[in-house]
Amino acid sequence: MKIESHYELSDLIKPEETFCKKANIQNNDLYEKANHNRLDFWEEQANQLNWDQPWDSVLDWKKPNAKWFVNGKLNATTNCLDRHLTTHRKHKKAIIWESETGQKQTLTYEQLHKKVCQLANYLSQTLGIKKGDRITLYMPLTPELAISVLACARIGAIHSVVFAGFSANSLQDRLNDSESKCIITTDIAVRRGSEINLKEIVDEALEKVTSVKDVIIHKRTNKTINWVSNRDHNFDEAINQSSTTHKPESMDSEDPLFILYTSGTTGKPKGIIHTTGGYLTHAQYSTKVVFDIKDDDLYWCTADIGWITGHTYLVYGPLLNGATVFMYEGTPDYPNTGIFWDLIERYSISIFYTAPTAIRAFMKAGESIPEQYNLSSLRLLGSVGEPINPEAWNWYYTHIGQKKCPIVDTWWQTETGGIMITTLPGLHDMKPGSAGKPLPGIQAQCLQDDGTTIHSGGGLLSLTEPWPSMARGIWGDQERFNEVYWSKFETYFAGDGAVKDKDDYFTVIGRVDDVLNVAGHRIGTMEVESSLVDCPKVAEAAVVGIEDTIKGQAIIAFVILKEGISESANLEQELKQFVATKISPIAKPKTIIITPDLPKTRSGKIMRRLLKQAANNEILGDTTSLANPQIMNTIRDILQSNI
Ligand code: WTA
Repeated sequence: MKIESHYELSDLIKPEETFCKKANIQNNDLYEKANHNRLDFWEEQANQLNWDQPWDSVLDWKKPNAKWFVNGKLNATTNCLDRHLTTHRKHKKAIIWESETGQKQTLTYEQLHKKVCQLANYLSQTLGIKKGDRITLYMPLTPELAISVLACARIGAIHSVVFAGFSANSLQDRLNDSESKCIITTDIAVRRGSEINLKEIVDEALEKVTSVKDVIIHKRTNKTINWVSNRDHNFDEAINQSSTTHKPESMDSEDPLFILYTSGTTGKPKGIIHTTGGYLTHAQYSTKVVFDIKDDDLYWCTADIGWITGHTYLVYGPLLNGATVFMYEGTPDYPNTGIFWDLIERYSISIFYTAPTAIRAFMKAGESIPEQYNLSSLRLLGSVGEPINPEAWNWYYTHIGQKKCPIVDTWWQTETGGIMITTLPGLHDMKPGSAGKPLPGIQAQCLQDDGTTIHSGGGLLSLTEPWPSMARGIWGDQERFNEVYWSKFETYFAGDGAVKDKDDYFTVIGRVDDVLNVAGHRIGTMEVESSLVDCPKVAEAAVVGIEDTIKGQAIIAFVILKEGISESANLEQELKQFVATKISPIAKPKTIIITPDLPKTRSGKIMRRLLKQAANNEILGDTTSLANPQIMNTIRDILQSNI
């Protein structure tokens, strides 16, 4: 496979001197230390946390199984909360929250600590949840979600946050896979002006789940909702009736902290496991060096806690650093595309971390919108989730950062736990479109298909040394973990293609497998395909990604209908809706193409590569292995009349 960047990378852009002079990282010392002795370097980072018991050795590595800070003991929340209470941060704001409807809430470190202790007591004492039990959190982006995450971590329960945009079906799969004992939810979520009844979705999901014994509901409204006695509990009452002091569970460094489901190449989402000591070490360290966090910053990461970015850079990373986090429950385009700039102005936000898809949408709406706001409080910008094209980068740099804020384009994955590749904002020059260099302590390479290293040029991105926040496995399926990440090369295979240039900067191109990246959300083609064939009218389906100017990629589904079903005007809509209901609206195909057949090899494998090339209007590659080559002409004709 030939991997090359189609970006014209422009000249290096230097960060402003005023920024550099005050930056947390101003020289190459960290790189030198890490290159000199990687394990000593990581040990030094781990020492920035409070441990109940020190580790015996830094790393025990038997590919693909890593143990970091072996036999060390600690609790995530004593590090995120308790240790700040003996400092000036006790009365510092930990979370400032606003919702789309204008609701507001602020919690100081002391107040957050209290609530976390109360919920922890309720979970362990009243509900009898024990260390290692799984709790699923299905909530909108509210402080109560952060409180729930931390309460789980305090008692050693493994949290599994499921993004509240997922359907009852998807929630059910995740509850069953993790065998959660308890679920914490909310009566409603608000999104773009409409209310979504989360509790109803939970009740529906629970119809086919046997493991869940208790449901805790955060009630935001006075609406009457279905209440199952002996199962349902009120979140606020649970907190109010519980003690504010709680002794945290001392966790082994390798005890799981959370599971987070993410898409892979097969239909079944993978429950990625992260453990305690290594994950927290990297979360604390990377937040400090990449986001340059200082005590007087107001830091806003726009990701939902339902994704890894929200876990690491909205909850754990900033709280470990004693930062003030801004949380907004809302979308960038409602009630208008000025809402984010309005929030930045009103709250004087200084660090802003968002996704390229949002930036491209802002760019489309035009710079006249941000121009109406005072964005001078900003000092650093970040991007994550997919490649940012140089045009969007430059727009972000010019119109949001006013050419004075460095941009950190951070490459990482659910599996890596934290940022792996980026520029350090006060140290490196930036290249629009290119993420930058591996962080100190991280090693990355581009490899050829046969595993040989490419020193300059395009290849498959691999992380070549173990790192503390690496995923430890897939919940219940260690074999799949070994197969997906550790069988292609001797080292970790990320599934992305990248180009390494002469300055050792990595430009990440995108996925090389059957995983799509739609608006920064990973969606497996197989996931969408299996939901389509679940529809009684569909015989077969193949899904590919096409380039989309706002979302990066959009989904196009090729569908063969069952005998006797004919195309109709409503059918396309019906199939789209079917996927939205089965998985989530984020997985909804942009276009449905009804076709009489799909391109298949003689052994019956669908050749998605050809469909992708046809859909993107590219020249078709090798078609000699097709059993039915003539179908590609038919498909091209149908596409031309559809897109
Ligand atoms: C893509 C999100 C280019 C990549 C943190 C990766 C990126 C996948 C970038 C992981 C970036 C993320 N530049 N591509 N800065 N950041 N990606 O697990 O394809 O939701 O493999 O984690 O997003 O998505 P995930």
